Amino acid sequence: MSLQELIDALRTSFIQELSTTISVKDLDSLKTKYLGKKGSVQSLMAELKNCSPDERPHLGKIINDLKEEITSHCENSLVRLQNEEIESRLTKEAIDPTLPGIKQNLGRIHPIQQMMDKIVDILNGMGFSVLTGPDVDTEYYNFEGLNFAPDHPARDMQDTFYLENDLLLRTHTSNVQVHTMEKYKPPIRAIAPGRCFRNEDISARSHVFFHQIEGFYIDKDVTFADLMSTMEEFLSKLLGEKVITRFRPSYFPFVEPGMEVDVRCTSCKGSGCRICKHTGWLEILGAGMIHPNVLKKGNIDPEEFSGFAWGMGIERIVILQSGIPDIRLFTQNDIRFLSQFT
Ligand code: PHE
Repeated sequence: MSLQELIDALRTSFIQELSTTISVKDLDSLKTKYLGKKGSVQSLMAELKNCSPDERPHLGKIINDLKEEITSHCENSLVRLQNEEIESRLTKEAIDPTLPGIKQNLGRIHPIQQMMDKIVDILNGMGFSVLTGPDVDTEYYNFEGLNFAPDHPARDMQDTFYLENDLLLRTHTSNVQVHTMEKYKPPIRAIAPGRCFRNEDISARSHVFFHQIEGFYIDKDVTFADLMSTMEEFLSKLLGEKVITRFRPSYFPFVEPGMEVDVRCTSCKGSGCRICKHTGWLEILGAGMIHPNVLKKGNIDPEEFSGFAWGMGIERIVILQSGIPDIRLFTQNDIRFLSQFT
């Protein structure tokens, strides 16, 4: 084949190959194949030395023209292919801005936690600091250290789940009193919010798992009047300025005297309704002056110091305030229920 024929054949094969090139990447290889240092055009140049000297300038020019032709074909095709690739990506990855977005559901704080936060906030403001006690504790901290005699019937009222090694699930937050007296010297002014457990049949009104908040104040000359005024102040901040309280004698082994604090039914204002079971009053919490035996067990001299303590259930307050008919709702994780508490 003459050099001229080789040149023509190369052009034909280039045009042919270019027509089947459909990506920028392929075009790149095609370009290297023809125009690269070891490419086809370069090999044609090398053939020139086999031609007669008078043919050389003419054929050299033809090869150069071919090179320019191929170069410009490549440049045009590059622009075309790049545009095509952009177009196809735009179609493939197109977004429809008119489609509705994916709604993000915001989580909410559990109603029990909301109430705990509210109560803690009020009591922080009244000078109480927050302590947390263990949910799993020993017989001593839950009962004995709180002056529960080993076979006193009060223990039956707080039956719980017993674990191995003398451990149990605490039945109230009062265990924190005992731990705290061991660790700190008076004056002590603390609250302890947390989980409690009792071995009870689960029903609309009672559960094995619930929450309490404990509060206690130990110092010189703490009196029953301090307890009463603290309860009044606390309950009016929690339930509203106009709350009316009633103090009723009651028994807890770890206080003496002990009482229960009721408030005038916030729903019927005392005339009697379903919520207050037609008594006009709502039982809110248990309280009393810390029993000297409890102080002694905590290495605090009852001749020198006195204190008061109270404890209240959180579920009950939320139930009273929002008319929830069933305590089990708090632990069923039903979004329809939980999302009502914003
Ligand atoms: N711990 C008691 C209960 O769970 C409540 C209480 C706390 C009563 C502190 C008096 C003083 O019923």
